Amino acid sequence: MTDSWSKSGWRNKPRVQMPDYPDAAALATVEAQLGQYPPLVFAGEARDLKRQLGEAAQGRAFLLQGGDCAESFGEFNADIIRDTFKVLLQMAIVLTFGAKVPVIKVGRMAGQFAKPRSSATETVGGVELPCYRGDIINAFEFTEAARVPDPNRMLQAYTQAAASLNLLRAFSKGGFADIHRVHSWTLGFTQGENAERYRALSDRISDALDFMTAAGITSSTLETMQTVDFYTSHEALLLEYEQALCRIDSTTGLPVAGSGHMIWIGDRTRQPDGAHVEFARGVQNPVGLKCGPSITAEDLKVLMAKLNPTNEAGRLTLIARFGAGKSAEHLPRLIKAVQEEGANVLWTCDPMHGNTIKSPSGYKTRPFDRVLQEVRDFFAIHKSENTIPGGVHFEMTGKDVTECTGGLRAVSDEDLSDRYHTACDPRLNASQSLELAFLVAEELSQRRKLLARDAG
Ligand code: PEP
Ligand code: CO
Repeated sequence: MTDSWSKSGWRNKPRVQMPDYPDAAALATVEAQLGQYPPLVFAGEARDLKRQLGEAAQGRAFLLQGGDCAESFGEFNADIIRDTFKVLLQMAIVLTFGAKVPVIKVGRMAGQFAKPRSSATETVGGVELPCYRGDIINAFEFTEAARVPDPNRMLQAYTQAAASLNLLRAFSKGGFADIHRVHSWTLGFTQGENAERYRALSDRISDALDFMTAAGITSSTLETMQTVDFYTSHEALLLEYEQALCRIDSTTGLPVAGSGHMIWIGDRTRQPDGAHVEFARGVQNPVGLKCGPSITAEDLKVLMAKLNPTNEAGRLTLIARFGAGKSAEHLPRLIKAVQEEGANVLWTCDPMHGNTIKSPSGYKTRPFDRVLQEVRDFFAIHKSENTIPGGVHFEMTGKDVTECTGGLRAVSDEDLSDRYHTACDPRLNASQSLELAFLVAEELSQRRKLLARDAG
């Protein structure tokens, strides 16, 4: 690194979207305590993930990143973690089949607690209170006391992240992730009502698995059929928490964020001279950068130079999130900026955050069709630019919630009130997530066939 960096250097930079803790002594106590705790992830794992993301940037792997908009303290139990993990694994198999490359599985899990907000306050019935900023900062309840930032919440977030990660590691390696078992869940989906369209692809996966078994490649002969690598990620928004968990990697002597394998910078906190970029530039983890419609090519160039000065493969993931129908206006100009710099980046698509609308019934929702449209635009633009669509980023849950409208088991506007449980943005439910994976797999498979045709 050319400029000197320290884990507290962000404190001298302008910060946005962070709380002002009223009790400085309590904050200092929590920071000191967290600073003593073990990191949640091991630096070597973050390095492995970075290497794999570097492969995805070249089209030799594909990134699937997904999970809650905001994890919460109230909605926390083994079933919730298991169900989200389960759907991510199902999606990964379908995508692997479409892309014929390894799918890198990264959860928005075990640390995704802090939320940037579009307004600093919220008014209900004429009463104005500070907004809710995620369970790691304050509470959702609409009272003055609940909205005061409480540093002790960081300790609870750490504990919850550690427990989540513990279970995810057990699921990943303990037999739960066996490819045959995961695929049998998917058969339940494709044999259901209205799912004919996806049946052919899932039957082909069944055939491939049956063939492997007949040829003697089984879960007991090949460990990779029984286990998966699973990584965690979150927006590195609450920098006191991130700093407290930052550690020196004993192998390289360099700083690593110990809070998760991958961290990202949100669309509202990506100021090139701001606190969030300052923190992220000094840690060795893979870093994501959300790119919304307001990012300029100039800023992107400065950000790429700051966040990845050595142009290391897999270090920087650009997460495009423009909204359905808007990618044509923004993605090509940003791809051009990347090319002008000769920057090595992984492009992924977050089709969620540009597609949030208020439904007639008053709920914040995201129509499935718009989500799908943004993914399709992303693939089409990368095709015409001759660049690589390297991954997708979803807000989703394994639960059968009614937060996004549409999908084959259509959720209507009137249904939204049935099971609207998110602590923040609307998530795809299990069926919508899997359906989207099938549709993305179709895109990936078409792309692969075109490339093969051009090469042949
Ligand atoms: C998010 O990922 O939950 C989020 C707030 O995204 P963005 O920064 O892209 O708006
Ligand atoms: Co969100």
